[in-house]
Amino acid sequence: MKIRVLGSGAGGGFPQWNCNCRNCAGVRSGRIAAHARTQSSIAVSANGHDWILLNASPDIRSQLESFPALQPARRVRDTAIRAILLVDAQIDHTTGLLMLREHTAPWDVYCTEAVYEDLTTGFPVFTVLSHFRGVIWHEIVPHGGDFVIPGSEGLVFGAVPLKSEAPPFSPHRHNTVPGDNIGVRIRDSATGGRLFYAPGLGSIDPQILREMEAADCLLIDGTLWTDDEMIRGGIGDKRGLDMGHLAQASSGGLIEHLSRLDCTRKILIHINNTNPILDETSPERRTLEQAGIEVAYDGMDIEL
Ligand code: MLT
Ligand code: MN
Ligand code: ZN
Repeated sequence: MKIRVLGSGAGGGFPQWNCNCRNCAGVRSGRIAAHARTQSSIAVSANGHDWILLNASPDIRSQLESFPALQPARRVRDTAIRAILLVDAQIDHTTGLLMLREHTAPWDVYCTEAVYEDLTTGFPVFTVLSHFRGVIWHEIVPHGGDFVIPGSEGLVFGAVPLKSEAPPFSPHRHNTVPGDNIGVRIRDSATGGRLFYAPGLGSIDPQILREMEAADCLLIDGTLWTDDEMIRGGIGDKRGLDMGHLAQASSGGLIEHLSRLDCTRKILIHINNTNPILDETSPERRTLEQAGIEVAYDGMDIEL
């Protein structure tokens, strides 16, 4: 299985347009050792020609330009994206659907019923797209079994409900139901390689831990280093857990969980612009390196 990290940043990207935190100001001026990041999305493929897009970020246009495999130019209008899977209805994961409205056929979109509801009511992207070529919705049942996506033969998908958070425009905000957020496991039936992808993860229960244990590679919520990072930075009043993101460094946090797992690769993704790990020379980044945890970057290729 080939995995391409299209966007490794959280909502807002890095630097965020209106932000002058240490990281955002630092990457603009070149004062810190850091790389800009677009918003949260990956693509996966078994054969390197046909790709499934996981999440459609507002930055999709530049992400497609940065990865020619997604634009094979076989016809006057063309794409290598065969279908789109959404892990939640958040703006950073769904707005890109609007940028893909010129597609020449309806988009096959895989998501849960809870996400479908948000995308036809609070943030009616699917409704808007119905005035273009439309969307063919394929329901993902969060506790359901494995499924395949036509166009990605050789890959077997599965979804696990996660405790994270529904978007602010959802009736489920702060009152989530299974299906507001999912983690996705993907297995390549030829190589046996397994990925577990969860860019939004608020807590880790035994079932999630089992999913993580079974994977060769984790691409997992790297939003915040500490739960109160945005408050301390004078940026907002939200804690990580209010937004459904488990911080890395806290007691009971992600690093503690990851240290108990022996997956070959543990990679953080969906990294918020306030996170000190974005500074490649920071002590926090060194802590991750010592724990064998990688930090995803835009353009990262992974093969399983
Ligand atoms: C999140 O991951 O919590 C959201 O995407 C935040 C946002 O709306 O940018
Ligand atoms: Mn997000
Ligand atoms: Zn910032």
